[in-house]
Amino acid sequence: MVSKPKVVLGVSGGIAAYKACELLRRLTESGHDVRVVPTDSALHFVGAATWSALSGNPVSTEVWESVHEVPHVRIGQAADLVVVAPATADMLAKAAHGLADDLLTNTLLTARCPVVFAPAMHTEMWEHPATQENVATLRRRGAVVVEPAVGRLTGVDTGKGRLPDPAEIFEICRHVLNWHSPARGTATPDLAGRHVVVSAGGTREPLDPVRYLGNRSSGKQGYALARAAAARGARVTLVEANTGIPDPAGVDVVHVGTALQLREAVLKAVADADAVVMAAAVADFRPAVYATGKIKKQDDGGAPTVELVRNPDILAEISADRALPGQVVVGFAAETDDVLANGREKLRRKGCDLLVVNEVGERKTFGSEENEAVVLASDGAETPVPHGPKEALAETVWDLVLPRLRATT
Ligand code: CTP
Repeated sequence: MVSKPKVVLGVSGGIAAYKACELLRRLTESGHDVRVVPTDSALHFVGAATWSALSGNPVSTEVWESVHEVPHVRIGQAADLVVVAPATADMLAKAAHGLADDLLTNTLLTARCPVVFAPAMHTEMWEHPATQENVATLRRRGAVVVEPAVGRLTGVDTGKGRLPDPAEIFEICRHVLNWHSPARGTATPDLAGRHVVVSAGGTREPLDPVRYLGNRSSGKQGYALARAAAARGARVTLVEANTGIPDPAGVDVVHVGTALQLREAVLKAVADADAVVMAAAVADFRPAVYATGKIKKQDDGGAPTVELVRNPDILAEISADRALPGQVVVGFAAETDDVLANGREKLRRKGCDLLVVNEVGERKTFGSEENEAVVLASDGAETPVPHGPKEALAETVWDLVLPRLRATT
């Protein structure tokens, strides 16, 4: 019988502790053996009885219980994943400095498995240089520190610092566990310390206040790429256009509408990026004139003529003028005919390192959960990706980006 993956859910003392109950429920219901290790302060928010009942395991905060079982060492050693949600500023500081004054901090020091921190705190605390340096230290050592979400905080405040949706934290845990399965045999996420930029969705080019020229891109592939990179430890900036998809946890999301806005956001984000993946469907043309009032029907029964102008080709621009030496640039190409020949030609014309070519058409619709593609490389390599979930294609793209990344110092 295959044993259940062992997850330690560390809970530190923040109001978002109640949301960790939902994360715990998702973890146990999906077949994980979860041991909850709260801090003393966390128990002010949610009591030990709740954690114990939901996990089916004993709960303790300190190292002096069941000493004969040496829990301060065993729990960390046995874990396949440690996730700390919420992680307070104090917990991040302790973890970064290796302090060990309770069961959770001891567990963090003895764990050799992947560790995910989902911070939650007030914006000022998150932005404080002390916290930012602690986060950078933890990331450099290979921990996945999820970016907090933006929104309503305790009281009347709003800003960055909310605990991401438990469903999103669960997705990250699932990714990290899959990624660190014994078959892969690595304990440090392979994109740790990297900054990657992903564009997703389809731009809309306004004609007047109520109409636009758009396309049918759903953005799902770009989101799968962003989630996968975050789970593999990267700092991710996602520039999204008109997807309507909730922000993924652990990802900095920039919302844009038009091709020109997308260009501006991507150029800003790539300044310090190790890799950029242009999965967005960018409109090649925009109306030459934007009518400030709604365009009305003409009395003579005629229809207006819309003059279009070319939008800049962002992929070609960032490929030709790399913001950093050795930056890896990946494009996507949706083709209806002569898919591979057109793909090779496009790879050369755009000047990127990798081009993910997929066939689109009546039968292969946009918005689906699945994809099938060939990834062409500028060195002539071709990697077919069989029909499957967009998540699988996302992993293959990062697998191919990885060996092309410049060496870190
Ligand atoms: N792209 C871009 N800027 C544009 C148009 C496209 O950066 N103005 C990027 C897309 O994000 C994608 C790639 O270029 O990664 C390929 O897009 P595609 O529309 O297939 O290429 P086009 O250059 O528009 O070629 P075609 O003539 O086939 O439309």
